[in-house]
Amino acid sequence: MAKQSGPSNIAVIGMEWGDEGKGKIIDFLAEKADVVARFNGGNNAGHTIEADGKKIVLHLIPSGVMHKNKLNIVGNGLVVDPKVLLQEIKFLEKNKIRISPENLVISENAHIILPHHIEEDRKVGGTIGTTARGIGPAYTDKAARIGLKVYEFVDENIFKKRFGDEEFYQEYKNYAEALKPYMNDTTTIINYAIDKSKKVIFEGAQGTLLDIDHGTYPFVTSSNCTAGGACTGLGISPKKVQSVMGVCKAYKTRVGMGPFPTEITGAVGEKIQKIGKEFGATTGRQRRVGWFDALVGKYAVMVNGIDSIALTKLDVFTTIEKLNICVAYKYKGNILKNFTTNMKVLQSCQPVYEEFDGWWDDITKVKSYDKLPNNAKKYLRRIEELLKVPISIVSVGPKREQTIVARSEFLF
Ligand code: GDP
Ligand code: IMO
Ligand code: MG
Repeated sequence: MAKQSGPSNIAVIGMEWGDEGKGKIIDFLAEKADVVARFNGGNNAGHTIEADGKKIVLHLIPSGVMHKNKLNIVGNGLVVDPKVLLQEIKFLEKNKIRISPENLVISENAHIILPHHIEEDRKVGGTIGTTARGIGPAYTDKAARIGLKVYEFVDENIFKKRFGDEEFYQEYKNYAEALKPYMNDTTTIINYAIDKSKKVIFEGAQGTLLDIDHGTYPFVTSSNCTAGGACTGLGISPKKVQSVMGVCKAYKTRVGMGPFPTEITGAVGEKIQKIGKEFGATTGRQRRVGWFDALVGKYAVMVNGIDSIALTKLDVFTTIEKLNICVAYKYKGNILKNFTTNMKVLQSCQPVYEEFDGWWDDITKVKSYDKLPNNAKKYLRRIEELLKVPISIVSVGPKREQTIVARSEFLF
């Protein structure tokens, strides 16, 4: 049967607290894409890709770089640490991935992270467990209208006038020179690509519950990680976003502080943490793990307008005897069916679970949805039912080929 024609652009959004496997899914989708455009965050992100015998963690550069002849865009919505970006380019070149202004462009309107932002984050970020990369302070300067944009950074006169007396000036002047060739008018470039019906991926960093407006504030990051961020972070109209794919894990994880109603403590939690190798791709911190939370899932579907779900790390559940899905919260004798960002409620509510039987078969080589164990399919079907959104991709391992397409109409 001929494949129904899919969308020409897809926004890929984290449905939880980040690290859902966005990097892996975007790399998989990028094979058929022309452009991969990141729209938010900075090097607080760590997007892991395992393909072509390599394992790469990207912090700023979009997840399309493992494929040749794709245009990767760093949008205006990002805060860019120039030192980290240049290191990342070098690291990729060492891995035989060539980076040039042909395959990487950086928005002239993105903001620059400078050493004092990192220093400030190290001093104050501890209270919410930030990645200490200077993200919050750089976005603070942006909102306060005292930030430094990329085009100002690479303009010798402007940069010197503003920061010529600073200790870091000489070092950063060299970074500015090196970044200059990559700078471009990314807003015009991406709108042109969309209008020419090029296949475009809007790459989100972090996740819905880390969004500055819609997340579990104040335990959030400082940018909009939700689908709306794709518009503001790239300069495109909401009318042009054709489809939204939510990436979610078979279970939940969270790095840093903040409430986590379905957090699993004890032996089962440790087992999932160990099998799932739940250590942060950016800071190496242990990630907290929790059961699937349908309230979080429904909330992410609503806020982002998710059309289909890419569900990752299903393989990690193999040999876990009993699985839980949270279907409601109990709070002060009441049953809550909808997620809330009210910290008071989140901190003291009790999850209400439905229990599912696990499976013992190794699923890491399964290629089609039908071949998954029945108990795995039951678990997935219940998630689809609760979230009222189909699962289009099931990921059964970190490698590109460990990806099952369940509903191809949501892909390119
Ligand atoms: P991102 O920030 O959303 O891109 O996710 P990260 O890269 O920070 O974390 C996801 C981790 O899970 C990485 O180590 C991936 O290699 C790994 N991963 C992704 N999908 C799967 C999967 O289906 N199974 C397993 N076992 N690991 C996966
Ligand atoms: P990716 O794109 C997971 C978390 C931090 C901290 C909070 C604020 O890989 O999914 P920040 O440094 O942004 O001010 O920290 O947000 N955080 C992430 N957690 N994945 C990420 O990115 C994250 N980026 C930030 O741990 O709790
Ligand atoms: Mg990550």
